[in-house]
Amino acid sequence: AVEFDEYGAGRGTRVHARLFADLMEGAGLDARYGLFLEFAPAVTLAPVNAMSLFGLHRALRGALVGNFATLEITSPPGARRMAKALERLGAGEECTRFFTEHVEADAVHEQVMRRDVIGDLLDREPELAADVAFGIRASVLLESRWEEHVLGAWQEGRSSLRPGAPGISRPAPPR
Ligand SMILES: [Fe+2]
Repeated sequence: AVEFDEYGAGRGTRVHARLFADLMEGAGLDARYGLFLEFAPAVTLAPVNAMSLFGLHRALRGALVGNFATLEITSPPGARRMAKALERLGAGEECTRFFTEHVEADAVHEQVMRRDVIGDLLDREPELAADVAFGIRASVLLESRWEEHVLGAWQEGRSSLRPGAPGISRPAPPR
């Protein structure tokens, strides 16, 4: 059910990767696939690398479920704040849609994750409880490091990306 929504519930224009590309284009950025990869520092890549690592190894399925649940359960309040912040900065609907889409969808996903995913996995394989907890704690640790990095850059009025990223000028100083 969660992945069905990520893929736009059958509508190509609503695929979440498409909504994120619309956000980038709305902000005047080049949304071609992988273009910014070279400019993302390790601290930014670590959360997605952990997700890939967990997803590629069946032995790490408990950690994967912990990671997946953490993202789905924590995203609605963050998405709400991002949509509000973008509105305050005068961003268009193409920029806010990615986040407004995640406010309601992920509130539903939270229940699915708690009951149908974590609940069902631990009913079947209770010995994976520690792995689920590990996945949750690893995700929180990596996301917190990333948050520190991005907020630090914002407060110092510089980009969180490595130098030379296309279309990135010095951001406006924080208010
Ligand atoms: Fe999504």
